[in-house]
Amino acid sequence: MEFKEKLSGYVDRVEKGIDLYLPSKETRPDRLHKAMRHSMKAGGKRIRPVLILATSEMLQAETDAMPAAIAMECIHTYSLIHDDLPSIDNADLRRGSPTCHVAFDEATALLAGDALLTYAFQLLATHYQTQPELNQKLVRELSISAGSERLIGGQMEDILGEEKQLDASQLEYIHLNKTSALIQCSMVMGGYLGKASDEEIDSLRDYGRCIGLAFQVIDDILDTTSSKETLGKNVGGDEALKKTTYVSIHGIEEARDIANDLTQRAVEICHSLPGEASFLSGLAEHLNRRLN
Ligand code: IPE
Ligand code: IPE
Ligand code: MG
Ligand code: MG
Ligand code: MG
Repeated sequence: MEFKEKLSGYVDRVEKGIDLYLPSKETRPDRLHKAMRHSMKAGGKRIRPVLILATSEMLQAETDAMPAAIAMECIHTYSLIHDDLPSIDNADLRRGSPTCHVAFDEATALLAGDALLTYAFQLLATHYQTQPELNQKLVRELSISAGSERLIGGQMEDILGEEKQLDASQLEYIHLNKTSALIQCSMVMGGYLGKASDEEIDSLRDYGRCIGLAFQVIDDILDTTSSKETLGKNVGGDEALKKTTYVSIHGIEEARDIANDLTQRAVEICHSLPGEASFLSGLAEHLNRRLN
């Protein structure tokens, strides 16, 4: 099957999974569940859940990876809702729709984020309860990756860095944590679902680190070169908030070269992954060329 067909097949399955696993919008309190669904259903590339599904399939997992994939998308979406709040990046557009605090209000957006974060762990604990060892590994990996030394640590340093000139290593810390952490985690969760060996988990982690860092480098580039119609979110926000980015430090051309090198490394790692990794190598290249 062609890469693009395969990708859209995975995305369709994720969309159905979201509908299936999230509480309905009529669930009391309906305002909260409407807000959660507003942000989850607004669209989005679904890269992280797709990585979980594709990795577990590459490893011929017998366990259903969908609850883990939706748990990951819940964490990612919560991080976007909070990232967009007036006190963080103050954005009014996300995934082509008004951000959660604009469509509802700030208090509801905070709570919808809180609820999605917690719901992710409820999904894991509920759907993998008959496999306690797998359950524990998934919860441990996701909680570390979403925690204060990874996703939130990256977000904290991102905010602290506003209006300051950070150096390349400080910026790499931010990108590896605010963005690469969840992408790496998706690979590792897919690996655990497919019973990967420790050595295989290391390779999956390395691949995730490379595409995750490249992903944020490209996010920085698109913030300066794209449009809000194409991206479905505001552009120019990094410059307005005086953030240090790969573009502000290296310029667009060099930032592109960095993303290309990271992508090449990810493609090479695919040769050492267990199983048929052509989808994952295609995905690394697809994300490097992405326009949104
Ligand atoms: C946006 O992530 C935030 C970053 C970590 C760069 P995505 O670009 O994956 O956003 P969606 O999920 O497609 O909306
Ligand atoms: C990544 O950084 C945000 C998260 C980890 C949620 P950005 O602030 O650059 O993401 P966008 O550009 O708003 O999607
Ligand atoms: Mg941000
Ligand atoms: Mg932002
Ligand atoms: Mg950005």
